[in-house]
Amino acid sequence: MTEPQTAAAQATTLLRTLTDAAAEGAWSAPGRANLIGEHTDYNEGFVLPFAIQHRTHVAAARRADGVVRVVSTFDPIPVEVRLDDLPTLFDRPDHGIPEWAAYPLGVAWAAIAAAGAAPGALTGLDLAFASDVAIGAGLSSSAAIEGATASALDDLWMLGLTPLALAQVGRRAENEAVGAPTGIMDQVASMLGRPDAATFLDCRTLETQSVDLGFDAAGLRLLVIDTGVSHSHATGGYRERRASCEFGAAALGVPALRDLTIDDLPRAEALLDDVTFRRVRHIVTENDRVLDTVQILRERGPLAIGGLLVASHASMRDDFEISVPELDTAVEAALRAGALGARMTGGGFGGAAIALVPDALRDAVADAAVQAFADRGYAAPHVFTVTPSRGAGRDA
Ligand code: GLA
Repeated sequence: MTEPQTAAAQATTLLRTLTDAAAEGAWSAPGRANLIGEHTDYNEGFVLPFAIQHRTHVAAARRADGVVRVVSTFDPIPVEVRLDDLPTLFDRPDHGIPEWAAYPLGVAWAAIAAAGAAPGALTGLDLAFASDVAIGAGLSSSAAIEGATASALDDLWMLGLTPLALAQVGRRAENEAVGAPTGIMDQVASMLGRPDAATFLDCRTLETQSVDLGFDAAGLRLLVIDTGVSHSHATGGYRERRASCEFGAAALGVPALRDLTIDDLPRAEALLDDVTFRRVRHIVTENDRVLDTVQILRERGPLAIGGLLVASHASMRDDFEISVPELDTAVEAALRAGALGARMTGGGFGGAAIALVPDALRDAVADAAVQAFADRGYAAPHVFTVTPSRGAGRDA
């Protein structure tokens, strides 16, 4: 039996099939799991995500004809655009670019703008993508394709953009080319990840600090329980939650919910309708939990953060109302089986939960989640371990 190809090898093979040329280089960027700090990014608050070991890979070769062509293992039909057309490609909503290709081409479009590059000074490219980041699991396959593309273009076009600027390019692509109104967390996590560490990001100042996680040393594993329930940020509740937060901030007279503290909550409760108040309370308490988690990780290590993860989940379930029964089931089953903490991760309305689990209980927790899903008649979840890993970069 032949070994299945890795995603990196698949990207290189796909490029060769497309162009008959060998790759001139290979880049990759990881998906992410968010340890804590949900929906706080677009409220200019705090987040603590980490890059995972699953990555999106891109193999690239130059072309002499001023065309940028992208192809992926998900859709074998290449999409091509003339370099000259790139700067205005996403100016109109009817651009006709297939959704997956709007990620890499949106990054090319935003990178050219960010670097102030003239298309005439750039070379045409073939870019072939393959990924082992689960799609729709809330692990940000989108930031992975954006980060891989941004890294490759920065090198191949010698744009000289910093990792943070490349994260902003990725976010602009996602917001304006793809049309998903997300914050900056995922792109920063994917660009700046470090092994065994999370990225503590202040989403207002964009200052980052690497925070050691020390899971291995503490004998812990971080399990992902992917519910298989699909979510969509572009439609659905994400946009609505954003609007509620903006409404709450305006009603309370602050630029962003980041500017409120726990002491402001009684005033918020008196002024706001019940739903908006609970949305606001989630953001205010979640920002606090991120700061507490960072402090506890630094002072006492990861064995002591479980309670904060549990409180975060309760706040998303009851106040922000972005959980679904499958996510609650996963969290409850994991806790009953001995997880120190568990919470849904990502935008919500489906996707995955994470559970912080002592090594010896890994299988017991995974089995408990599978059993709890079976008992309720849900399709089996996909359970796997994620490892805090390095961020985007060149591999070959
Ligand atoms: C999605 C978005 C992020 C963030 C999370 C919720 O992953 O892409 O910007 O808002 O949801 O924390």
